[in-house]
Amino acid sequence: MNITLRHRVEQEFSHRFEQLPEYIVRAPGRVNLIGEHTDYNDGFVLPMAIDRAVWIALRKRSDRIVRVYSLDYAQWMQFDLRQLTLDNSEWGEYIKGMAYALQEAGYELQGWEGVLAGDVPIGAGLSSSAALELASGRAFSVASDLPWDPAEMARLGQQAENKWMGVQSGIMDQMISARGKAGHALLIDCRSLEVRQTPLPDGVAVVILDTATRRDLVDSAYNERRRQCEAAARYFGVKALRDVTFDEFTQREAGMEEVTRRRARHVISENERTLEAAQALVDGEVTRFGELMNLSHLSLRDDFEVSSHELNVMVELAQSLEGCFGARMTGAGFGGCAVALVAGSAAEGFARHIHQQYQSATGLEPAIYICSPADGASLV
Ligand code: GLA
Repeated sequence: MNITLRHRVEQEFSHRFEQLPEYIVRAPGRVNLIGEHTDYNDGFVLPMAIDRAVWIALRKRSDRIVRVYSLDYAQWMQFDLRQLTLDNSEWGEYIKGMAYALQEAGYELQGWEGVLAGDVPIGAGLSSSAALELASGRAFSVASDLPWDPAEMARLGQQAENKWMGVQSGIMDQMISARGKAGHALLIDCRSLEVRQTPLPDGVAVVILDTATRRDLVDSAYNERRRQCEAAARYFGVKALRDVTFDEFTQREAGMEEVTRRRARHVISENERTLEAAQALVDGEVTRFGELMNLSHLSLRDDFEVSSHELNVMVELAQSLEGCFGARMTGAGFGGCAVALVAGSAAEGFARHIHQQYQSATGLEPAIYICSPADGASLV
């Protein structure tokens, strides 16, 4: 747990409100090990929550005002729960969006005030927005005496994203931020929301490789992929691509339009890879797990077409280094991060080498994080 950030929000709270906070809440970012662009196809994902999070120190208010100071932006934001309006306060919109989703679902909310800080890199594909949604959800629930139901809060976080922020994302990021488990990745069935905790074997490290590139237009490309997947599901006459096996796909693919065919091939094969990968983790077969990560990358690069030059360079470098079992782009794509599974004893050296090699290949300064699987949103 990040003691420093916890202390920072606590101290800043005491300084600004001349009192200790009543509550401290946190919610983590995530990295997805495998199962990419499958969540909105009702499929399977295998993410883990990371040891980077959004923290809020707060106290209840007796009225219905929410007031928050962000240490990262050195900025206040305030709104009235009786009158929510979009006003582009950026980070503040996620908190408001969560209030909107909770109230739409019929929850009675009470006001609160506090201080917020986070160390999930923003816009890198590590779900800083889901972390902020779930941390706010945790704050609202403790301030309003609501029961904490992680899956329900994840669903409301997704509503905030879809309906308030206007981004048509799936449920993965909010689910893992809500339900993560220290030491484990989670196999999530994005249709039933059933979760299977999958321990990370001893002696392996998960390394996040930030390419230091950020892409605009991710949202429109993302929505386009969603539409293509829906078109493919209609072709097969099913609710979602989750319902098509790879055998069924090969029997009928000849009649499909080329782009739709490749999009479907990615999703259908990725679902099967994800299930196999989760089992490989349970069985401690990390070599096989790594191979499946490599195959996932090729499928995202060639069939789903959401990788980028820098992501491909990073992934290929990672795969060529000693101790690396496998690597792939992670998250929505087009920029941001890749993830590698590396032998624990080789992790430090791996991080040093890839930093150097990526920098000389691209001229960009990457950020490399060796991270451990953390717990989901909590009241600490
Ligand atoms: C983004 C979305 C998720 C998921 C991934 C791709 O992170 O928020 O819902 O679709 O992209 O796997």
